[in-house]
Order: sequence, then C-alpha cells, then structure tokens
Amino acid sequence: MKNFPDGFYWGAATASYQVEGGIEHCDWAQAAREGRVPPCGDACEHYSRYEADFDLAQELGHTAHRFSVEWARIEPVQGQFDTEAIAHYRKVLQALKSRNIKPFVTIWHFTLPVWFTDKGGFEQADSPETFARYAAHVVSELGDLCEHFSTMNEPNVFGSNGWLRGSWPPFKRFAVTDMVSITNSGRMYESKASKGIRPLFLYLKVMKNLAVAHNAAYEAIKKVSPATEVSVVKHVIVFAANWNPLNKIKAVIANYAWTAIFINRVKNHVDSIGLNYYFYTQFGDTRQWKKTDMDWNFAPEHIYDALMRLAQYKKPLFVSEGGLADHDDSDRAEYIQKQVAGTWRAIKDGADVRGHLYWSLMDNYEWALGFEKQFGLIKINYDTQERTIRPSAYVYKEIIENNGIV
Ligand code: BGC
Repeated sequence: MKNFPDGFYWGAATASYQVEGGIEHCDWAQAAREGRVPPCGDACEHYSRYEADFDLAQELGHTAHRFSVEWARIEPVQGQFDTEAIAHYRKVLQALKSRNIKPFVTIWHFTLPVWFTDKGGFEQADSPETFARYAAHVVSELGDLCEHFSTMNEPNVFGSNGWLRGSWPPFKRFAVTDMVSITNSGRMYESKASKGIRPLFLYLKVMKNLAVAHNAAYEAIKKVSPATEVSVVKHVIVFAANWNPLNKIKAVIANYAWTAIFINRVKNHVDSIGLNYYFYTQFGDTRQWKKTDMDWNFAPEHIYDALMRLAQYKKPLFVSEGGLADHDDSDRAEYIQKQVAGTWRAIKDGADVRGHLYWSLMDNYEWALGFEKQFGLIKINYDTQERTIRPSAYVYKEIIENNGIV
C-alpha cells in the first residue's frame, strides 16, 4: 500500500483558453484569425458548462481543481477591469467550494490580451509592472474564495515556443528554416515565423522579464492579501544521460538551462512550486520507448526525478500537471498509476509534495495542434458537447479514494 499524507489533494487541471470557448481578445485568437494556429472557437464551452463539469469531477472523487483565469476577459483594455468577468470567476470558485473541491487558480496560462502583445508583451521593460497590477487585481477580487494562486504557467515553454521555435505567438524563430508547419487534421498551419539570431536575445530578455514579473506579482499580491499562498508553475524536463561523460555534461547543462536558471531567479518569491511533468529524455539513449499520442516517451515514473530536482529548493511542491494524450484510453490508467507511484516515491525520499493534479480534466484545445490530441479524463464530443467519462478516470478515482495505490 502506497499511502499519501493525510489531506493530500487529488484532482485535475484545465486552462481558460483551452476549455472555456468564446475568448476573442487574446493573442491566440488573433493568431487563429490570421490562420497561423487552429481556431479555438467554443472549445468545451466550459465557460457556461462549468457546473456540470465540476459535478463530474466530484463524481470522480476529486478534492482539488486547478484552472486559470483569462487576462483578456478580466482586463480587456489596459487598466479597465471587467466586473462581469470577475463575477463569473467568483461563481466558478463558489461552484468548486460547494462541491468541497479546493481551487488552485493560475493567474496567467499562456494567452495574453492583444493590447498587451501589441505593445510588445513580455519583451517590454514595463511588462512586469503591468502583469503585477493585473495579478494583484485578480487576488484582491478572488482571494476570499481561494487560498492558492500561481502567477504563471510554464515560463520556459511560453518563451521557447514563442521566441526559439517560433511555433506560438509571437512566432519568432531562432533557427535555420523559414517555416514552422504544424499538421492538424490534414490542414497545414504555416506559422510563418520570422527567423534570425535576434529571437535568441529576445528570448533571454523575455525569460528575465518573466522572472521579474513573477517576483513583482508576488510582492503585489502579498500587499493585498498577505495570507495568500503564491506559487509558480514550472515545466521540468528531466534530462538524463547514459554512461558517457560527455552526455552527462550535456544533461547538467540542459537541466540548468531549462529548470535551474528560472527557479533560481524566483525562489525567494514562492511559497510553493507547481510541477508540470511530461518529458524524460536521456542523452545517448538507445532504448525504444513506447510513445504517447504526442510522440513523447511514455515515462510517467520519471516524475520522481522531476520532483526530486525541485525538492532541492526546500519548498512545498504540488504536481500541477502531468498526463498524456491517449485517444483510445488504452494507456492512461497505467500512466496515472506509474505517475502516482513516482510521486509517492519522491515523498518517501523527502519531497514535500502536497497534491497531484492530472492534466487534464477533459479533452481540450492543445494549442498549435488544435483539438485532435486527447488528454482528458473526460472525453469531449465537440459536435454535441457531450461529456463521457473515460475508464481510466475510475482508476484514478480508486487511487483518490484509497489516498494512494493499493
Ligand atoms: C501546458 C498545457 C498543455 C499540456 C499538454 C502543458 O505544457 O500547461 O497547457 O495542454 O502541457 O501539452
């Protein structure tokens, strides 16, 4: 029996743009109108169906839920905060509360208001201040209904996809080819990234500004609500190496560049750290890995290495995301069991992990790949908006009910 600590939080995560539908004033919606990424449209209509969706989460035994609020809804024009949007998210938080589900709110999950990106977004020196003002507003309006806020989701993924790979807004590419083509259900999206050397320097600047923005938001939030727990959600790639010393050096450098630099910049301004875990990669690996529908190595047990890496910072941790795309649900139950077992091992070895949130509660918009990839415990039929609980969700439910793996 692998028992978790009492009060351990179990649940799943979503993000506003990926599930809500009807978000028009953000950079991704604009990129979709320009044909550079797939349209998101009504997504899962979660903006109006959240009550029914939380009923399903409750039925599945979830005791926690992570979701994000949409900056473009809350501050559609710079400095003008929308009271209806706030009223909506208050109702969402109340809906969770009435079901005894603890909320984890992410203040910003990838999508940005167009007024902000038009001014240069996080390339601009004043962006941290603008972000901090928005973050403090969110907490001052919602803080009585939620104890835990994450300032931002996966800064390194945001920065590298936007400024190195050029596959996400603002489509700047530090690379050798002109086009980044993404196949999505037979349709080709040409993001037409602008390429060059400059994006590398912009990337470094953006990464710095994101850390400054997090720290400024942390301080602004503490001013309006000192008791609020503030975290950052960090994507950790586990870079490992075979026997070869050169590969070992490569792994050290890669782990440092992807994880340590950012965390070192913010570690004095976090009450806890959220881990998003999806990738394990070994330099010099000759094994044939089983793959997920994203073509990522099927390596859920290595969440252990990611948690132990973050445990060095001596903060409470929570698994803010982890999961796989698996359209026929053939591998999800095994993935969840191994991910939970890896999390348990990390706790045994000293990591202070407080919760586990599977990505995702339901299928959703997988960014530049559109709606094809299915990460959900709940399947969505996008024609009818019908929800179907997948069998693996019941395996997870049993883990939750036992507070561990029997
Ligand atoms: C992101 C999610 C995304 C998931 C699967 C994470 O990087 O936070 O928005 O859908 O991974 O790719």
